[in-house]
Amino acid sequence: MSVPLQISRKRIKRDIETLAVFTDPNEQGFTRLSFSKEYRDAVDYVAGKMAAEAELEVRIDEIGNLIGRKPGINENLPCLMIGSHLDTVKAGGKYDGIAGVIAGLEIARCLYDQKICLKHPLEIVGFLAEEPSPFGKSTIGSRAMTGKLELETLKKATNQQGKSLYQALKEAGGNPDKLEKVIRKPGSIASYWELHIEQGPVLDQQKIPIGVVSGIAAIVRAEITIVGESNHAGTTPMAQRKDALTAGASLVTAIDSIAREYDRMVITVGEFEIDPNFSNIIPGKVKMGLDLRSLDEDDLASAIQAIQDVTDGIKTNGLGITFNHWRSSPRVVFPREMTITAEKVCKKMNIPYLVFPSGAGHDASYLSEIAPSGMIFIPSKGGLSHCPQEHSDLSDIVKGVEVLSGVIQKLDSELSL
Ligand code: GLV
Ligand code: MN
Ligand code: MN
Repeated sequence: MSVPLQISRKRIKRDIETLAVFTDPNEQGFTRLSFSKEYRDAVDYVAGKMAAEAELEVRIDEIGNLIGRKPGINENLPCLMIGSHLDTVKAGGKYDGIAGVIAGLEIARCLYDQKICLKHPLEIVGFLAEEPSPFGKSTIGSRAMTGKLELETLKKATNQQGKSLYQALKEAGGNPDKLEKVIRKPGSIASYWELHIEQGPVLDQQKIPIGVVSGIAAIVRAEITIVGESNHAGTTPMAQRKDALTAGASLVTAIDSIAREYDRMVITVGEFEIDPNFSNIIPGKVKMGLDLRSLDEDDLASAIQAIQDVTDGIKTNGLGITFNHWRSSPRVVFPREMTITAEKVCKKMNIPYLVFPSGAGHDASYLSEIAPSGMIFIPSKGGLSHCPQEHSDLSDIVKGVEVLSGVIQKLDSELSL
């Protein structure tokens, strides 16, 4: 029988407000990029609370994941894991990722206060760099934990100053040469769960407090570079220009139209650099970063082909163009037994819920490859996220923690039978 946990609104509020202070003072909103001082401060704060308020065994693994462990009654059982991330995007909000780590911490604190010991060991994880890091890579911690990150990738990825991700990890106290020690084998995690803000409008518009996440859209990232010719803005006739920006601008609109041809596909050109970006010089080069998402892998492949066809057309106009794309995270469908467990908990607690997929990516995408996983969403006011206005009500966060704690306790008894 699961015992209701005495979840503390006060502690959750204090933690969210404290973490919000660890932000880059030179940026808008909340900015805590992985490897920054603010990020290290946030990790230190949560590590301190894990040890002082829940007596967790705290460590940072070789890739830089923060892990707090509560031993189980049966240490031979695989662990139950709750995780999310403490980094933010640039000029982001106070809740993305943070809500999930604090949810895990609060559950561990309640178990400690109420002297409840689970049969399974419980691990609370703050994954390194879920968001795009200054090294261009995201979901670094969860990819490493599931064996999806190569040492070579760490050595090749560099930041704007030319420092490698490998070097940055070493400087941050990690040990990338021992990457294999981070890897968890299938079967070593009984179940992985992540509470997250929805980051979209569904729950808020329908006034429903809980989302049971059915799956996660696949993400493909791409980089397109167009090379034309820089020249004098006053003397070069319109017919003789090789303007990389006009080509780039029409490509952006074409990409937008391609996305609209598919049901529930989203494509964003969120990065755009103009070179030399000076008012009386014809732009000689542009570079853009794309993010493509869909729950349908075939649709994604076909949209990529359509973009490729448009870029081939630009080549024939005398401009150079390169198009590189790579999979950022795979499409995920959470196991039915996991979503049903969350639904049963909501029903028992009399909490209205909705089952639907996530358009945003999460560490759960990777964890689900090695462990039966699930996610709980809570409403995002106005559907806003990845911006300073991102907001979730404290009462909704508490409700989410209640549901998550019910799920963890239910799985603890069912999976140990
Ligand atoms: C993660 O924040 C994403 O880009 O979905
Ligand atoms: Mn995010
Ligand atoms: Mn997130």
